[in-house]
Amino acid sequence: MKIPSIPKIKDKSNYCFYTSQRSRDFFFYCLSNLNKLDIKKILIPSYIGYSESEGSGVMDAIIDSKVEYVIYPINKNLEINIKELKSIIRETDSKKTSLLLIHYFGLIDTNYLKIIEFAKEKDIFIFDDCAHSFYTYYSFKDYFKGDAAFFSVHKLLKNITPKSISLIKKNISSKYTFELEKLLNRCSPNKNYNMPNSIELSNNFDFFPTIKGIENIVEKRIIQANIYKELLDKSGNPFTILIPEKSYNFPLQSFPILFSNNVNRDNIYHRMRDLEIQVVSLYYNLTNKIKITEFPEAHYLSKNILNLPINEDLEQDQIKYICKSLLEAI
Ligand SMILES: Cc1ncc(COP(=O)(O)O)c(C=O)c1O
Repeated sequence: MKIPSIPKIKDKSNYCFYTSQRSRDFFFYCLSNLNKLDIKKILIPSYIGYSESEGSGVMDAIIDSKVEYVIYPINKNLEINIKELKSIIRETDSKKTSLLLIHYFGLIDTNYLKIIEFAKEKDIFIFDDCAHSFYTYYSFKDYFKGDAAFFSVHKLLKNITPKSISLIKKNISSKYTFELEKLLNRCSPNKNYNMPNSIELSNNFDFFPTIKGIENIVEKRIIQANIYKELLDKSGNPFTILIPEKSYNFPLQSFPILFSNNVNRDNIYHRMRDLEIQVVSLYYNLTNKIKITEFPEAHYLSKNILNLPINEDLEQDQIKYICKSLLEAI
């Protein structure tokens, strides 16, 4: 297996970095300030979660910033419906629009570059939502082309400071990035959102210096996804793996599988939890703005997905145990 070598940031002066408590803080202030630059709408995917305890990190910031939103569909395989997205973009006044691309669980959509090319031609401001995908961004920095990106590092590492990091790329071909940077530095606070702090990078700082042994973490995560694949990618199993063949070199946040309708996902979830296996279902609830009648495939995903654990503390034998327990539970 080939582990990618991790590129250093080539030119730090092309980025502005921010720290914040949560990704939604940065996202909220970006949206509010883009509003002032006449970008009053955002296109968002149909797979956005909600929970009683946390609300919706994405949707709350959108609603509170008072930008309009249009939802584009995510297919049952977790990929963007590119045909629909393009047709929404064609119908929109793209000069007044931003686009949110969520990189679920550390994955990058297989059509990412095509979408970026299409959106950039139309001058759309692009957010890479890497709340789950810090390690993927870190490993493939030059592949990401959005104007801004945010990372909920607190979801990947306990007790990490800062909890969230975000960036704006100073993109000379975008008229918004320089303006947004200026506005962010002098905007007034909102009581529900902590202000992001802009940070300077020193010469020996490569993106996020506080994560010790990051190359090792990246390598372990890639190896783990490949072990899951080897043990679970068999015809006859009543689930599919939501990872495209070409994406096994990404350091994932978790390993998503999708059950067919004749398996009760919730039963499997509880049986695994009883064995103290930390599976999750991201997202078992979608925000109520995403209606089942309009987005049945996203709701199917929500009801049938299970995310198996990936993290640097897991050993290979434990992954084998997780797979064995899963197959026995079905
Ligand atoms: C895809 C996605 N983006 C953004 C967020 C917001 O993250 P944070 O809790 O750091 O604000 C979340 C989590 O709520 C999320 O799942």
